[in-house]
Amino acid sequence: MATETSTRSTTSATTGSEWWRTAVIYQIYPRSFADASGDGIGDLPGITGRLSSLAELGVDAIWLSPFYTSPQNDAGYDVADYCDVDPLFGTLDDFDRMLETAHSHGIRVIVDLVPNHSSDQHRWFQAALAAGPGSEERDRYTFRDGRGENGELPPNNWQSVFGGSAWSRVTEADGEPGQWYLHLFDSSQPDFNWDNRWVHEQFLDVLRFWLDRGVDGFRVDVAHGLIKVEGLPDWAPPVEGGSMGGGSASLEPEISAEPEGAATLPPYWAQEGVHEIYREWRELLDSYDGDRALCAEAWVDPLPKLAKWVRPDEMHQAFNFVYLETPWKASALRTVIDDSLDAFGEVGAPSTWVLSNHDVVRHASRLALTADNLQGHGIGPKTKGLPDPVVGLRRARAATALMLALPGSAYLYQGEELGLPEVIDLPDEARQDPTFLRTNGERYGRDGCRVPIPWEAEAPACGFSETGESWLPQPAGWGAFARSEQRGVDGSTLELYRQMLALRAEHGLGLSTLKWLQTESDDVLAFTTAGITVMANIGTTDAALPSGASIILASAPLDGDVLPPDTTVWLR
Ligand code: NOJ
Repeated sequence: MATETSTRSTTSATTGSEWWRTAVIYQIYPRSFADASGDGIGDLPGITGRLSSLAELGVDAIWLSPFYTSPQNDAGYDVADYCDVDPLFGTLDDFDRMLETAHSHGIRVIVDLVPNHSSDQHRWFQAALAAGPGSEERDRYTFRDGRGENGELPPNNWQSVFGGSAWSRVTEADGEPGQWYLHLFDSSQPDFNWDNRWVHEQFLDVLRFWLDRGVDGFRVDVAHGLIKVEGLPDWAPPVEGGSMGGGSASLEPEISAEPEGAATLPPYWAQEGVHEIYREWRELLDSYDGDRALCAEAWVDPLPKLAKWVRPDEMHQAFNFVYLETPWKASALRTVIDDSLDAFGEVGAPSTWVLSNHDVVRHASRLALTADNLQGHGIGPKTKGLPDPVVGLRRARAATALMLALPGSAYLYQGEELGLPEVIDLPDEARQDPTFLRTNGERYGRDGCRVPIPWEAEAPACGFSETGESWLPQPAGWGAFARSEQRGVDGSTLELYRQMLALRAEHGLGLSTLKWLQTESDDVLAFTTAGITVMANIGTTDAALPSGASIILASAPLDGDVLPPDTTVWLR
């Protein structure tokens, strides 16, 4: 080892306050984090009560998935009032208290904004239904007449991300079947019409509402989906069964031959028009004091295309799902790291890194799956290639130790610091993801990564809720992962995360420059950053550790001078 081969860094902050360039941001999925009311669904007071443990973990910021008024058909991503809190989660006062407490711990708060669609229960959609075809109210959403002699066929062939048609037909005031409305997700999530200026104005007001309350930024849901091609043309994936399978719309654009993908890009993803919207939002954020940030949830590939979302006058960050989807293979990882730093660096933005969230199989399971698993399908008892949990956790720890050494900003998903696996054996009747329901169970969906967090091994619902209620059942053995079992325990996943975050902050790894080192095997990745050498053995045989190096962190126990498979070390 030791020959330098190439150097890459994240773009330096131009002012000391651009916290988002290096931040470790912890995703809270409110309904599964901590339940103070005892109804089995996590809430804002529950979050407030647990913030000190996140301060102890060492995160810089939290991102909260939606807690707004919602019928909860898609766990809150179906918003019925963008400026209020659903009683399930508490009140606006609870939000203010949570925000103030987070800030008092030095933790910034990002909230979720869902601009592609609302709930069908939103007053705007209800007004659109009542007002009838051709009205101003209908023009705020994507209504069309149907095809066929009597309009009985959907306006085009688009499929919902969750399975089935992306169109539903309404019954008009006269009791007759009428127009159709577009929903790229569940039928209870009608898509807005972003060609209508009125929609822009409403969302600017929503942004102001939360900025005025003091939030530090927004994670923008489906940030690649707001603009659809004029005329809403039919579209079919070029390759049968795109990444969500069955010809359904995928969260990500289908692979296209051309970089811009003009010919084969789905007419609802990654259209140029979305960038105008974010430029206006950026101006608004910039007009506020402090350092507020926008992060795009944009399933856009390849990386240089995704980087358009974070040009200097657009958003600040975009989730790096290309990284998340990279297999546990050294060459693929090195390539995606280089490509990410290059693509984001090219536009002056930090790269982000992420391995888990509320939409994907937890990485402690995903990295040990032995058969292909399409994004959004989830895993369950009948899935082929189910993971070995020991291998999964070992890889997850090694993968996170690699990720947290990289320059840029990293996202963590609640529970990964406990090493939580995907819950595979949820009973069918407990599953709530619309993906499971809309595909009649053909896809398990995302409930397995949303099971409530175990805090205390011996408490009811493992400390999630005093009453023992839990909206998804916690599996037997969940208590073994509880924070109470890991806190202060050398070698536990929780202590490993704590150590990684502390060292990352102490050495300024987020702003550092990565220099690749040559290694004895293609399966071993090694680089230096801020005076630390990081080595990850992604192969199946031991690798030699450099002699005389002092180990400051190891993702698995070491025995002698070798780096075992599926292990990452930080050395000095
Ligand atoms: C992406 C969110 O992360 C996911 O949970 C949700 O179902 C869809 N967007 C629709 O809002």
